[in-house]
Amino acid sequence: MIPKSFIQDLLNRLDIVDVIERYLPLKKAGANFVACCPFHNEKSPSFTVSQSKQFYHCFGCGAHGTAIGFVMEHTGMGFVEAVEDLAKSIGVTVPQEASNVPQHKVAPDLYDLMQSATRYYREQLKKTPRAIDYLKGRGLSGEVAARFGIGYSPDDWQNLKATVPNYMDASLVETGLVIAGEEGKRYDRFRDRIMFPIVNVRGQVIGFGGRVLDKGEPKYLNSPETPLFEKGHELYGLYQAQKAIRAQQRVIVVEGYMDVVALAQHGVEYAVATLGTATTPYHVQKLLRLCDQVVFCFDGDKPGQKAAWRALENALPQLVDGKRLGFLFLPEEHDPDTYIREYGTDAFEHEVENSLPLSGYLLRELTAEVDLHTQEGRSALLKNAQPLLTAITAPTTALLLRKEVAALAGVTQAELEALYSIKPIAAPQRAAPQKAKRSTPSGLRTLLRCLVMKPELARELPGDWHGDGNDGAAIAAIADWLNESADETSPAAMTQHFQGTAHEAALNAAQGEIMYLGEDFDVQADFSGLLRNIRKNAIETEMSALLAKGLGGMSQVERDRHEQLKQELQQLKTQAN
Ligand code: UTP
Ligand code: MN
Repeated sequence: MIPKSFIQDLLNRLDIVDVIERYLPLKKAGANFVACCPFHNEKSPSFTVSQSKQFYHCFGCGAHGTAIGFVMEHTGMGFVEAVEDLAKSIGVTVPQEASNVPQHKVAPDLYDLMQSATRYYREQLKKTPRAIDYLKGRGLSGEVAARFGIGYSPDDWQNLKATVPNYMDASLVETGLVIAGEEGKRYDRFRDRIMFPIVNVRGQVIGFGGRVLDKGEPKYLNSPETPLFEKGHELYGLYQAQKAIRAQQRVIVVEGYMDVVALAQHGVEYAVATLGTATTPYHVQKLLRLCDQVVFCFDGDKPGQKAAWRALENALPQLVDGKRLGFLFLPEEHDPDTYIREYGTDAFEHEVENSLPLSGYLLRELTAEVDLHTQEGRSALLKNAQPLLTAITAPTTALLLRKEVAALAGVTQAELEALYSIKPIAAPQRAAPQKAKRSTPSGLRTLLRCLVMKPELARELPGDWHGDGNDGAAIAAIADWLNESADETSPAAMTQHFQGTAHEAALNAAQGEIMYLGEDFDVQADFSGLLRNIRKNAIETEMSALLAKGLGGMSQVERDRHEQLKQELQQLKTQAN
């Protein structure tokens, strides 16, 4: 766990405007900054960033959050990763015990070296007709080659001498670009190959894949794992595809560099490739954060089939209800590159539309090898399905698949759950009606707006404070949070704290209103006034309840209470003036 205090400190030091500007240009508009929202398609800007409050809010799609939330949303990074990225951007180290992800100390110049090498390989491509012809022969335009930064490494042992300050520097070996041989001899890893730079979501080159031009082994040579490059985490082409993935709300996962590039050449820009490894749970999680539909499109051959099944297994724990996973099996002799070149974009996208849903693929494979007419077959089905079904945590998906497998095996869902010793999924609880909740008791929303501007005002709330509805509950939660983490009370820290909680929606609504209404109101005065009003209403209610008994009906204690309330009311009225 990263200490909360560190997160708060980080949010204090960052400027959300700088952070967001790393990814999209912002324009000043009054007190705020605006842009066309990167999270949905729009023509006029409704994405608003408050510099003074350090959060963003989109009036179009409701996206909102802090600098950390923005980086997570925009790049698909996880929380820890986003925090590390942001910390690094301002030269701060995340406290050691803070992370369960191995810490890589990345000297910044490793990235520079990769950048120089990329530039060098691209220049060499321009000078090498044989390499250009190869790419042309595979149907690539110069534009697409440039989009992917494709280059060429000449057929020499020490090409990179021409572009790095010191070829003997240890950092060159660290990047994987240079291999240290016997007796201090060094040579380039990549020689006479078409070079595909592997770029992380921040746009930095972290590795290469190099393809032979003619026949030769290995066909593709890849950078080794280095401090910059972790294969199970990265996806080739994700940086270039991000925008299209968001716009289409869909991503296609393919096997090869050339598949990604060829699809882009044909206008299918939302494809990424795993890097010679199986699809990892991490990959799936990352992609499901970016969009609603992930389609795996592996080669039609045996290894492709195997890769698809591995992808399914690794996807199960990551499934999210409402998001779709599909599997597309091309004819055996094809991969996405050859398929789209032969049949064209429409045919390929038609195949994608009609990809087999995960549930269909799962059931097809589970029932393929067993004879459901026999008890042995049904028993085998139950056994084979167990690890798969128990891996799913998305409730609706789990429920539906349990029902189907149970039905196929001729048992009830309850029997299947008992057999697997898994917690039964009951009928989903009916959600409380949303409509009633939405109407906000007057005053509470304004109170919440004040707290969003200046959380520490919650200290002035009476100790026994409670409010109705979502806004009232959010106000109470802010007061609790303030009591627990008394040291840091910035609006951004508060936003971050409530991200993903039941109070997120109320805070988001209040933040949105501030963006609309502007921030130039006297928060302190408004807040005090509101508190007085709320107290006044409470007193008046209590007094009229007492008075309803008639003076004669009241006990001495009640008469005293009435007198006390009357005085307090008087005081409140004087304060207001
Ligand atoms: P394929 O052998 O399917 O090649 O490898 P491909 O993508 O169709 O390549 P082209 O069309 O012949 O150029 C798929 C992926 O597996 C990894 C690479 O990431 C490649 O893109 N691979 C393959 C290697 O890492 N090394 C190899 O020798 C072969
Ligand atoms: Mn191919």
